[in-house]
Amino acid sequence: APPLRDLAAESGRFFGLGISGPMLDQPRYTAIASTEFSSVTPGNEMKWGSVEPTRGNLDWTGADRIVDFAEEHDQEVHGHTLVWHSQLPNWVANGDFADGELRQVMTDHVTTQVGRYAGRIARWDVVNEPLNEDGTLRDTVFLREIGPGYIADALRAARAADPEARLYINDYNTDGVGAKSDGMYELVRSLLDQGVPLDGVGFQSHLILGQVPSSMRANLQRFADLGLEVAVTELDVRMQLPADAAKLEQQAADYGAVVGACVAVTRCTGVTIWGFTDADSWIPPTFPGQGAALPWDENYQPKPAYHAIVEAL
Ligand code: XIL
Repeated sequence: APPLRDLAAESGRFFGLGISGPMLDQPRYTAIASTEFSSVTPGNEMKWGSVEPTRGNLDWTGADRIVDFAEEHDQEVHGHTLVWHSQLPNWVANGDFADGELRQVMTDHVTTQVGRYAGRIARWDVVNEPLNEDGTLRDTVFLREIGPGYIADALRAARAADPEARLYINDYNTDGVGAKSDGMYELVRSLLDQGVPLDGVGFQSHLILGQVPSSMRANLQRFADLGLEVAVTELDVRMQLPADAAKLEQQAADYGAVVGACVAVTRCTGVTIWGFTDADSWIPPTFPGQGAALPWDENYQPKPAYHAIVEAL
């Protein structure tokens, strides 16, 4: 089949990869990463803990390498992520800040990082995972120290630092209609009402075998109807190991359903998978006993899920 990036481009979409910096030394990895995908999202290299491990000491090595790789291969970069409660440097996570200080620290961080890559980033996940499962705002250091306005503050700082980048809020378990996605819907509606710069909503889609929400297309569509872009940003479909033929067929159907939901929504800009080979996935270390979540197996051979993506694009 033609590269996934070419199939997606036929409908004006990207097909993206959550890319792994440490794998860029492996030719077997880069051969596929550079040819099948038209967008890359750094898996870890742009997180705050990676770029500023201690206060004032900025390290762009890992991030630069991925941006350079992307440009070499005519790929977009999906910046991930600026304001998130996880993978923070200790000095932010445990920092005891004076009144108002974290607000300045956060907006400076956004300004510095977005400014550094201005013109080179297609989309930024400005705020990642702001919601609880019930749709209320998650209790994070940012909510506690700054209040709910931290989201608008971060978006405004990002827009000022790179007016070209499309600004997203991204979360998981928001893929179908439900309490959490209702919370996202209310959040983004109120941001738009207040004139806050926001261009899109990302749906991570870290899914469990056989559990693609039947309302996914309708859910994406209701956000699109607000005038926003939507994107599937971190797709994987995990299963209890060992994999077998029946599970791999179900997984193919699941991948096809997610890609099909995006393709059915005009403003869905593309789909990013969170890794491509089962040899390099966050699932086994994070969900013990589970894995085989990606469209290529651990020997870099395409699985049924890969063929289902081809069909759905
Ligand atoms: C994961 C990475 O893939 C892992 O390598 C890392 O150890 C933890 O984070 N939601 C996100 C991503 O937004 O940043 C996470 O990535 C997966 C869940």
